[in-house]
Formats: sequence, structure tokens, C-alpha cells
Amino acid sequence: MIENKQVPAVARRMNEVVEMAAPLFVRGEGALLYDEHGAEYLNLNELNVVLGENNRNYVQTMEQALASPLTASGHSVYKRKLIGYLSQTTEGVFSDVHFTSSGSEAVEWAVRLAQKMTGRSEIVCFWHSIHGRTWMSAGMSGIPRRKSGYGPVPAGIVYVPYPICGICPYHSMQPDCGLACIRFLEDTVEYASAHDIAAVIIEPLQASNIQSVPAGYLKALREWTRQRGIFLILDEVQSGMGRTGKMYCYQQEGVVPDILLLGKALGNGQHIAALLLTQTPDKRFTQAIGGGTGDFPHACAAACAVFEELLDRGLLEHVSSVGSFLMESLLELKQQFQSQIHEVRGKGLAIAIQFSGNTTASRVYEGLDSANILYGKDTNTVILKPPYSLTRDQADRFTRMLKELLSINN
Ligand SMILES: Cc1ncc(COP(=O)(O)O)c(C=O)c1O
Repeated sequence: MIENKQVPAVARRMNEVVEMAAPLFVRGEGALLYDEHGAEYLNLNELNVVLGENNRNYVQTMEQALASPLTASGHSVYKRKLIGYLSQTTEGVFSDVHFTSSGSEAVEWAVRLAQKMTGRSEIVCFWHSIHGRTWMSAGMSGIPRRKSGYGPVPAGIVYVPYPICGICPYHSMQPDCGLACIRFLEDTVEYASAHDIAAVIIEPLQASNIQSVPAGYLKALREWTRQRGIFLILDEVQSGMGRTGKMYCYQQEGVVPDILLLGKALGNGQHIAALLLTQTPDKRFTQAIGGGTGDFPHACAAACAVFEELLDRGLLEHVSSVGSFLMESLLELKQQFQSQIHEVRGKGLAIAIQFSGNTTASRVYEGLDSANILYGKDTNTVILKPPYSLTRDQADRFTRMLKELLSINN
């Protein structure tokens, strides 16, 4: 950090704001971070640098990539290799790929392509979803704070509830309801749209609150969209690339979307996102949205290192096994503290711990903050998305800490 005396007043004010907002990390190893004063933090909220800090293979790959041609003109060896990994892990079901520099951009690209290719304008989106921070992608997100205060949401967005039995508009429950949520989507489109739907965009596992679609839902949605010539876009910007212990969520449901979106973990901190398409669009559909900056060789190299770690060095299995260990320990805690923990849910290393009320949640937040544990929040809920390198000991350290905090009021 530059000495305050040496910098002009405006920069000094900016420094102060930056210092107040977050710790200054100067070193890291796996899921551990160290600030300028040597304090240690356990990072359980890492959406991007999923290999963990200081991953040797990643650092080495990046050094080599930065010493190679950096231009994105033409193809790079890294881009070729990356396309190979994407094709291999999706079993060749996609015929085309386009890279962008962020998930938001990939979402907008997918929507604009669906509009151009179908000749229709409207998009169906889900409550509580996250799709990005740009105007259209924030508008499509089903989270109020992403939209309020920015004027009207973009035209043509039709929202439906995410299929969670607990908030079912028909108060029905799976498996007896015969997927009433699909009927509700159909009724909403019937009465709340202009019957001009280009695409449905959905996260198979919602990132904001770690909710998954019920079994059979994606298949039914695939059928519903196919029958109407509507694009199905699966947003796996957070749920893909091994987060759930499987490479992608959509494969667990046996469903192939028209467009699959990947991002965040794909670049392990480098700016790269990908759209995988089952149909190669005609040039006249991509003229207005071609180009972009997602496929720089160093960003593609980063993604190759992520695939290498996941596929060749056992990281995918590690996510599964540490994720199961953490989930089992948390379910034991739920048994023990039934009045304080409402629900533990998730897959792999995406886990939500929902508390029964505000009092418990606030006590846990405070305790975790003062223990330098970094985590995500939803209403009365702790959200865990650690780097995939999280060790069993670190997972255990978290559950022991949580147990202590819950014991205070038992
Ligand atoms: C599911 C999902 N889609 C898209 C995005 C947008 O990605 P980005 O932040 O790279 O623009 C996000 C960001 O959080 C996300 O969680």
C-alpha cells in the first residue's frame, strides 16, 4: 500500500474507502488468505479462483501462456486445447462455441442470438435467479436489488417462480403434483406474455440460494420448449465446471439445452466465459454480436489448467468427497440443533445452511466474521462456495466453529 502522505487527496480518499471495504490480502495458499497484518482468513466464498490460491500447475501454465503470443487474432494452442476439453466433457453434443469475457456478456449474447434466430422477442426467467450485472442480464435476474432504482426493467421479460415445492403457487408437492410448476409456467406465458417467447433461461442449481430444480423438471421444460421452437438456455456460470462434484449439472438430468453458459470457475480468475451451442448459427445471425474479447490465449490457458486439475489430477473427485464430508457433518449438526437449523441443502461444494430465524443467523454471522471466515449470505442463510481445494480439515474447522456458535443458545 502506498504511504498516505505520498498520494494526493483524492487518491487518499479512495484508499480509505478501499481499506474500509475489504481486507488487503497479500498472500494465499489454497483456501487460506493472509492480510497485510498477517491475519489468516478461511475463504468459503470463492466463485472464481476455484483451484485455490497459488495452485502450482495454474501458475506455471499462466507463466508459459504470458510468454507466448498474446494476441487473440487467429487461434492459439490454448484455445484449440480448450475447445477440445469442452467438447470432450460435453460428449460432443454441442457443435459450436463462442467465448466472451464475462458471464453477463455470455447471457446477453445468448439472448440476442435466440431472439435473432427465432425472430421472437420475449424471455422467460425465474425468481431468485442471477444472470449478471449489465442492463438486460440484471433485468433478467429474479433478485429485486439487481433491478430496483434503475428505471423500468427491460421490456419482454416474463418472470415465473423457480420450481421450489416450498413456494409452489398451487401449494402442491412433488412427486404428487405432476410438476404443477410447468403448468404454472405455461399459464403465465398464456396470460402474462405477448406469445412471442424466444427463450427460457434457467440455472439448474440456483446460485443465490442453492436451490435445485425438482427431478424431472428440466426434462419437462426441455420438452415444453422444444414443442414450441423456444430456445432453452442453461446458465451454468456458477453451477458448472465441477462446483457440484459433477462437471456440469445438466448432464445429471439427461437434458441437452440449445445453449449452455459457463463462466467464473472456467477462468480461475481470468476473464473468460463460454456459450456452447447445439446449432451453428448462420453468419447473418451473428454479424451484430461477433467479435468480443473472451478468447485471449492467457484466458484460454487458465481454463485449460482448470480442466487439467479437474480431470487429470482428481480435483472433481475431491469436490465430491469433501462436499459429502461437509454435508454429512452439517446434517449431523442439523439433527443436534433442530430448533436453530431449518435446512441444510446443496450439492458438492455449493451448500446452504438456512437458520430458523434472524436471531440464530445474526449470531452465526457475527461469530464467523470475527473468526475471519469468508462466506456468502441469503435471508437467514449462510452460503458456502469454497475453492475446490478446500481440505477436510478446513471443512471440519468450519463445522466445529458453527457447532460452538449454535451451542451458545442450546
Ligand atoms: C448464474 C450466473 N450467471 C451469470 C452471471 C454473470 O457473470 P459475470 O459476473 O461474470 O458477469 C453470474 C454472476 O454472478 C451468475 O451467478
